[in-house]
Amino acid sequence: MNIKNLRLIYFSPTQTTKKVLSAMADGLNIETVMHFDLTLPDSIRYEEAGDKIRIDEGLTVIGAPVYAGRVAPEAARRIRQFKARGTPAVLVVLYGNREFEDALRELKDLAVEAGFKPVAGGAFIGEHSYADTKFPIARRRPDQKDLEKCSEFGALIKEKFQQVDSLDSLPIPEFPGNYPYREAHASKEISPETLEKRCTRCEACVSVCPTAAIVLEDKVLTETGACIVCCACVKSCPSGARVMRDPHILAIAEWLWENYSKRKEPEIFLGWRR
Ligand SMILES: Cc1cc2nc3c(=O)[nH]c(=O)nc-3n(C[C@H](O)[C@H](O)[C@H](O)COP(=O)(O)O)c2cc1C
Repeated sequence: MNIKNLRLIYFSPTQTTKKVLSAMADGLNIETVMHFDLTLPDSIRYEEAGDKIRIDEGLTVIGAPVYAGRVAPEAARRIRQFKARGTPAVLVVLYGNREFEDALRELKDLAVEAGFKPVAGGAFIGEHSYADTKFPIARRRPDQKDLEKCSEFGALIKEKFQQVDSLDSLPIPEFPGNYPYREAHASKEISPETLEKRCTRCEACVSVCPTAAIVLEDKVLTETGACIVCCACVKSCPSGARVMRDPHILAIAEWLWENYSKRKEPEIFLGWRR
């Protein structure tokens, strides 16, 4: 089978999912690549219009971060806007070196529900959203070694497609995870805050927030109920004015650093034998 075009669909507040999918695209080496970046608030316009984005051909890679062992809820919501016609999909979850638990299986179910045929999947490691200099959990990952693995994964998929005549030769792989999935975490009305003295009002935080929870008036205001604690604002603030100081999150970061700082490696799941 010859793949003529590639679609990358992802939700990626701190960009690690995007980096992994882009490296996979390098390995797949397909001429036409389209990005559907679902990270910003305007990417839910189809849902609001009660419409679907149709995918009728080519290969699609769908990527999402793992939040509490599940697909990040905002990612799931945005992925539901797609409607495919049995077209093949590769599923990728990004996790912060703890565990990905039920996320890959959930992403597979979301893809099937949307009409895709999953043919492969992978769990990759990205810098944890709560990582900082004190608790550098999976700091700077995906690194060069990870990105090489992503590219190899892409090349492996391309090679398999070239060997088969139809999608029927590519069974849906078994993905790890449980049914029912791990219970979703109730949101706790927590958000990063802005240190007034350091803030230059550049609005970097406003521009990266996936849920439009941050606005600049006479100072930076955050709607805590809308915050998904992705920490995109913290990581993008050029003056270090946006900080996470909530004791609950800081305790989690410390716990993660104490228990999950040993490097994990990416895992891939194929419906065929290598
Ligand atoms: C609310 C929340 C929950 C998270 N839960 C997990 C988890 O269960 N396991 C894990 O290893 N990482 C977890 N992470 C870390 C993210 O999966 C990781 O940082 C990922 O690389 C973020 O993807 P992005 O850069 O594309 O936004 C969590 C992050 C957030 C914000």
